[in-house]
Amino acid sequence: MNQKNKSGEVWEHLSIIKLGGSVITDKSVPFRARKGDIDRLAREIAGILPEIDYRLIIVHGGGSYGHPVAAKYKIKEGVCEGDFSTLLRQRLGFTQTKKAMIELNSIIVDSFLRANVPVVPIPPSAISITKNERISSFDTAALYRALKGGFIPLLHGDPVFDEEKGFTILSGDQIVSYLARIMGVERVLIGTDVDGLYTEDPKINPDAKPVDILKYSHDYEAVLAKLTRDKERVKVEKIFIDVTDQMIGKISEIIDIWKRGIEIIIFNARKPNYLTRIFRNEKVPCTRLID
Ligand code: IPE
Repeated sequence: MNQKNKSGEVWEHLSIIKLGGSVITDKSVPFRARKGDIDRLAREIAGILPEIDYRLIIVHGGGSYGHPVAAKYKIKEGVCEGDFSTLLRQRLGFTQTKKAMIELNSIIVDSFLRANVPVVPIPPSAISITKNERISSFDTAALYRALKGGFIPLLHGDPVFDEEKGFTILSGDQIVSYLARIMGVERVLIGTDVDGLYTEDPKINPDAKPVDILKYSHDYEAVLAKLTRDKERVKVEKIFIDVTDQMIGKISEIIDIWKRGIEIIIFNARKPNYLTRIFRNEKVPCTRLID
């Protein structure tokens, strides 16, 4: 695929990887990064970069860093009502959430440096604004420059300012979907802690069957219907603190780019070499969403 992006430049074979919070952190323990997995992923990415000509953007989630702090101060819900001290407490909560993301990002940058990957952290809180939780502006100038200069832009879910709600949480999944659309991305890899999508939730139902491939023309309506049903169930059975609704949130975000013919691969990034093998077009258990 060869698409013209917003700035008129042509990018071929640009990929985005989302490293989900359940991959890079232990979601059951606040502020616990999975440093072994992060180091391994950094090494795997270092290995494939020359093969993909350094055309890669990485986005990571908040996991047990961003999510518990954001939930504590209700940052996703926007500015609360109350007296000055209530508002100040929540503003400090916004800063605490930001700090949690900086800490996690810094751990990730360290791993990539050790693996000789020239990542450049680009904090979404400084370059994007939302309106009712959806991106309304996003300055990609630094991102293009970074890519042109042979750097790997590294973004993440972040607390951001919102035109209607004062502030909110912008998920890494929404960033992935947005960038995939405006930058003419060829392939989106969503790294999670399961082997892709299943007919049921595999953590609840052992009879759940993996889904290898979903074709837009054939399966779109079914996926949409399933999303609506599962959303109700997730609300009552939520196990982890996750202000952006885990897998359901992911699918709702990517469904729009699936429609546009961008290949999406949902895979288990906790399994060694899956990422490498996917880039090399080798067969691994995963779900591919294709045209
Ligand atoms: C959330 O980002 C960021 C914050 C809570 C600040 P994501 O929603 O992309 O994170 P994960 O992948 O679900 O953990």
